[in-house]
Amino acid sequence: MIENTIQKIRSEIEDRIESFDSSKSLYEFRKDFLDNKDGKIAQLMKNMRDVPKEERPAMGKVINEVKQWAIARFDEMDKRVKAIELEKKNKAEAVDVTMPAEKNEIGALHPDTLIENELIDIFTGMGFEIYEGREIENDYYNFTALNTPKDHPARDMQDTFYVSDEFLLRTQTSAGQIHVMENKKPPIKILSPGKVFRSDDDATHSPMFSQMEGLVVDEGISVCDLQGMLNTFSERIFGEGVKTRLRPSYFPFTEPSVEVDVSCFECGGKGCKLCKGTGWIEVLGAGMVNRHVLENCGIDPDKYTGFAFGMGVERIAMLKYGINNIKTLFESDTRFAKQFKD
Ligand code: PHE
Repeated sequence: MIENTIQKIRSEIEDRIESFDSSKSLYEFRKDFLDNKDGKIAQLMKNMRDVPKEERPAMGKVINEVKQWAIARFDEMDKRVKAIELEKKNKAEAVDVTMPAEKNEIGALHPDTLIENELIDIFTGMGFEIYEGREIENDYYNFTALNTPKDHPARDMQDTFYVSDEFLLRTQTSAGQIHVMENKKPPIKILSPGKVFRSDDDATHSPMFSQMEGLVVDEGISVCDLQGMLNTFSERIFGEGVKTRLRPSYFPFTEPSVEVDVSCFECGGKGCKLCKGTGWIEVLGAGMVNRHVLENCGIDPDKYTGFAFGMGVERIAMLKYGINNIKTLFESDTRFAKQFKD
């Protein structure tokens, strides 16, 4: 009778023991038989009570044998399943060192940023403080306070994107001059970099571009100070020996106003393609701050004078790096940006 049950247990184990592929499910199966309390083998022991005393030792031996067999069989199987599991895990986590690595592109600073940084270095070196204005301005700061009232013909010089009747995308960083002078009294020496917007679009103009504005106001500031500063600036950005010259021009917010040329750094002034044979290249607009502008900001024009200048960052970048179409600066092609170095 008990032999039959033992035989049944053995074949139940044998039937399935090879079929497990995880040590967890094998363990669950093992519990059916080897659990100390409810396992089928432990149950056999309980049956001993009904067996005559003299047969008990023999029977105990048989039960013990099957118990030892089962333990050994499960242990052996457990080892096999664990080995398979480990192999699977290793395979899943394997790193194929022959696989080509993912390419990590190293970026480069945009030529605009390089020039902007260079200009900021040059001017902060001369004691200018940075003031960043706002890109959306109202009509007053961008035009009226800069001595360009409504219907002034000079408004035509800068085709404007209006956001509403009153607000617009600033057409010039000069708008920042007014904010600075309203909030700070002389001495003033600021540099204001930032984006400006004009409805203008060709090989050398873009609807959005960057300017760098400078403003110096103090007692006794004259055109000589402007000229001296421009000489230093030109040599630092374009190279030693580069000269500047001032040509009369017109801006409503400066009087007198000048257009600033630098001697051609490509041909040394002899005349070449870059300077169109003239030996000179126009780089920025400047002038002495118009007394009306000072008055508009509550600064006494009889006591204080000042100069201002404004330049296009893209224009400087194009001149310096020999870029002939402004669009290439805004196409976000990393191959383009990578060509330029400090
Ligand atoms: N704001 C002028 C422009 O955008 C440049 C400028 C600035 C001229 C300061 C004179 C003084 O064209």
